[in-house]
Amino acid sequence: MTEHSVPLKRPMDGQSGLPYSSLTTRIAGRGATAWAVHGRAMRLAEQGRDVIFLSVGDPDFDTPSPVVEAAVDAMRGGRTHYVGMSGIPELRAAVAKRHKAVTGQHVESENVVVMAGAQASLYSTLMCLAGPGDEVIAPEPRYATYEAVVGACGATMVDVPLRGERGFHIDPDDVAAAITPRSRVLLINFPHNPTGATITADELEGLAELCRKHDLWLVSDEVYATMVYEGKHLSPCTLPGMADRTVVISSLSKSHAMPGWRLGWAVAPGDLPAHLGNLAQCMLFGTPPFIQDAAVVALSREFQEIDKMHEEFRHRRDMVAQRINAMPLVSCRPPEGSMFAMIDVRDSGLSSIEFATRLVDAEALSILPGDGFGPSAEGYLRMSLTAPRERLEEACDRIERFVTGLNR
Ligand SMILES: Cc1ncc(COP(=O)(O)O)c(C=O)c1O
Repeated sequence: MTEHSVPLKRPMDGQSGLPYSSLTTRIAGRGATAWAVHGRAMRLAEQGRDVIFLSVGDPDFDTPSPVVEAAVDAMRGGRTHYVGMSGIPELRAAVAKRHKAVTGQHVESENVVVMAGAQASLYSTLMCLAGPGDEVIAPEPRYATYEAVVGACGATMVDVPLRGERGFHIDPDDVAAAITPRSRVLLINFPHNPTGATITADELEGLAELCRKHDLWLVSDEVYATMVYEGKHLSPCTLPGMADRTVVISSLSKSHAMPGWRLGWAVAPGDLPAHLGNLAQCMLFGTPPFIQDAAVVALSREFQEIDKMHEEFRHRRDMVAQRINAMPLVSCRPPEGSMFAMIDVRDSGLSSIEFATRLVDAEALSILPGDGFGPSAEGYLRMSLTAPRERLEEACDRIERFVTGLNR
């Protein structure tokens, strides 16, 4: 399952008779049942129903116009040729500066590798850190593409539950229990998709201690670092002994409403940037210079519209949690970060998939069953906050009508 409207496809066997590599099965999408809800909603929309889609994590805001202008100017100015594989120096420097502002860690431009979004950065990082026989520990529920990324490198994914009763906060003891001699990487993502959980300083220190003790890499996907509603964003890279074993992944997709630009990065220690650069060379051959020029502008200025977007997400989050908590059979802990709210439907007597399917059929509202992201989110639904407030109010009205009907 992905954040996009088209689910990953499973390979079709036997069509041409020619074999595919084993990679094709390792990267095949999962969570098809969850995306069935979205597919159902698409069909209803095609039939003319007024469907509200809150299934996808794409910010419903425009890229700030000076960033768009910068890209246009760059294209007109001939910035349409090959550039260095790891990113242009200005952008690597701008990312290093931003990384310091967001995480508190000082890094050099040489630590930064620019790629096509956090996704390509994550993929490349995992390809350079883990391989067949290695285990990657990744808490579930989790962002849907992780499984295929770990599959692509041939490593084995090891689950650690994030529990609803802990507000989906990670328990370092659960991670400790998952560690084996084959463990190579701990892959975390806070603020978290799908649950909106963040991480406390104690939890983070607990994880850091495990990484130091068992000599693990820590890959930290921080794409929602600027969307924190409670407290402050915390990154493992600043903890003692962690700078040399932590890779921070981020992008402009969420922070600047720029997912279609495909601009992200890895901030990595030691020789890893060089390895990532080699992978970038054989896979991407660099990132478009006009997009990188625009990204420099995005990172170097303050934008009122971005501040407003973050403020608006906070309003939406408060409003949705308040509305859901006033309804029978469902509840919602306000997300601490990200742009998703988890709705607890366990008291409804329906499973996540039953609830989501009946809701889309009855009320033309598309939200995703939590278990599509991992078994620990069974009993929950993930609702994206990526629609204007009036539309979210309408979505809440629809949920209210649905649960009131169930409650009769
Ligand atoms: C947790 C997480 N990581 C990575 C990504 C991919 O982000 P990007 O658009 O920068 O590739 C997403 C997108 O939804 C996400 O939710």
